[in-house]
Amino acid sequence: MTAAQIVGEKTLEKLTFVITAGPTREYIDPVRFISNPSSGKTGFEIARAAARRGHRAIVVAGPVSLATPRGTERLDAVSARDMMRETRKALASAASPEKTVFIATAAVADWRPAKKAAKKIKKAAFDGVLRLVRNPDILKSVRGVVKIGFAAETGDAVKQAAAKCKAKDLEFVVANDVTVPGAGFGCDTNIVAFVRRDGSVERKPKMSKRALAAEIVKSAEDAVRARLKKISRYAIIPQNKEDER
Ligand code: C5P
Repeated sequence: MTAAQIVGEKTLEKLTFVITAGPTREYIDPVRFISNPSSGKTGFEIARAAARRGHRAIVVAGPVSLATPRGTERLDAVSARDMMRETRKALASAASPEKTVFIATAAVADWRPAKKAAKKIKKAAFDGVLRLVRNPDILKSVRGVVKIGFAAETGDAVKQAAAKCKAKDLEFVVANDVTVPGAGFGCDTNIVAFVRRDGSVERKPKMSKRALAAEIVKSAEDAVRARLKKISRYAIIPQNKEDER
């Protein structure tokens, strides 16, 4: 069997998709937290689409009110640090890194309070100053698998996406401007562009998050296929040289 046949379209094996979804909550005290309005819909739709195409799909979910799509696995997280831990667990359970895709759709809080108060902070006792510290970057910290990121911006998201792609070693960034009607947080549609490392931009028309999820899964499969082709080319050259002897 040739390398092309091994990694050909019809023979692409079951992959593992690990997908972060939704917001994170960073608690200030037991009853207050910093968060954002991410619904988690896109991440859940990607998990659903991956499962429907026969892949293993694990969604690492922040606090969202969505049912777990049929045929997918789910790990729950509250804070960014929880999400990081659960993501690592999910990735560790995958069969092999070259057949694993990590898609970070979660709107992870970049900052958390330096200290969570053990008891509810009383109005009179609060001086109005909240010290924040940086959260870990989950997407950047993951290595050795195909990675896809999201960039939700208020303004031109496409502009900085190629740089983000390089900085986090991504296959592509799904960029969207959340201020455009029909795009981003909460709604069922999105208007995005796939931005690759080389700066190339593939603008997508307005589409449902379900349709977008299917396109992302197919592009992820293509990326894995291309990577496997490269790996098998390296693996096969010494083998052929052996044969010639
Ligand atoms: O750098 P920026 O936050 O704009 O990058 C967004 C991408 O990085 C998203 O895919 C998001 O899920 C991911 N991210 C992450 N961990 C963070 C911050 C962002 O995984 N702490």
